[in-house]
Amino acid sequence: MERKRILSGMRSTGRLHLGNLHGALGNWIELQNDGRYDCFYFVADWHALTSEYTNTEPIRENIREMVIDWMSAGLDPAKSTLFIQSAIKEHAELFLILSMITPLPWLERNPTYKEMKAELADRDLSTFGFLGYPVLQAADILMYKAFGVPVGIDQLPHVELTREIARRFNFLYREVFPVPEPLLAHVPKLLGIDGRKMSKSYDNAIYLSDRGDVLKKKVEAMFTDPQRKTKKDPGDPEICNVFSFHRIYSSPAEVESISRDCPAAQVGCVECKKRLLARLEEKLAPMHERQDFYRSRPEDVQAVIDDGSLRARRIARVTMEEVRAAVMI
Ligand code: TRP
Ligand code: SF4
Repeated sequence: MERKRILSGMRSTGRLHLGNLHGALGNWIELQNDGRYDCFYFVADWHALTSEYTNTEPIRENIREMVIDWMSAGLDPAKSTLFIQSAIKEHAELFLILSMITPLPWLERNPTYKEMKAELADRDLSTFGFLGYPVLQAADILMYKAFGVPVGIDQLPHVELTREIARRFNFLYREVFPVPEPLLAHVPKLLGIDGRKMSKSYDNAIYLSDRGDVLKKKVEAMFTDPQRKTKKDPGDPEICNVFSFHRIYSSPAEVESISRDCPAAQVGCVECKKRLLARLEEKLAPMHERQDFYRSRPEDVQAVIDDGSLRARRIARVTMEEVRAAVMI
């Protein structure tokens, strides 16, 4: 039986953190290991360019680091196709053609457009490319005729736009594109060390590459129950970010013991964090080993990327033949 195709991408704007691991990336790995899907995952370096066009130097290095993080976390190039967006020039051609049929108001009312512009107020995002971000994303998705697109909730408007663009193309020319489904994962609540959403731009993230002193300092700096000043005060795990981490990383027995001992002032935050640090180190150690392995073998990483791009390009070529025939161009 033909496996259903899955496609998703990530902007190459930096290293991955635990929020990514439990969000998008974790979902990707699960879909890969499910066995029913043929998964395509790519680094969206052109999408990175839409906001980083004045600071392009780190993008290339970020691409490699991102692919290394992916593989270290469990994406397997023997099971999934891993590739780089800019290696497949067909994405640019499809983007151009789709831009002809995408009404401007669809883009102007896109909520992520307004949000990101406000959030990244330090740069000029009043550009054509940035407004067209979802059209490029639609090209990425439709190129592979993906049935499902695993994304975080923040990307839903883009998948919705992709569906509308696909329908419009099919209506104007002919049925070329299946209308893709967004695949939302259940994502556990994981906040940054300061209790806000974990994000690179808030400088509150724990990265998959954090280890040793860096990791220790971050765990020590984590916000806890704000009412709890000393070990003698009873704490409330339910409002403590350290506890939500324990829920993810510690054994049920450990979670149980903290939820009993913290409100009874039997365990202090220092001890509680020490235990969390140990669990995090256990969880991350195998990833760090793999990161070191791949970092010392850049040719192997390049070979994975080249092979994935080759496989992706084969599909992109076929789709573009169909698209050109449909548009008669
Ligand atoms: N916009 C996505 C993000 O910021 C990245 C992306 C680009 C993407 N193209 C895609 C995701 C296609 C899914 C499908 O995370
Ligand atoms: Fe949070 Fe642990 Fe301190 Fe309780 S003991 S407040 S769960 S860090």
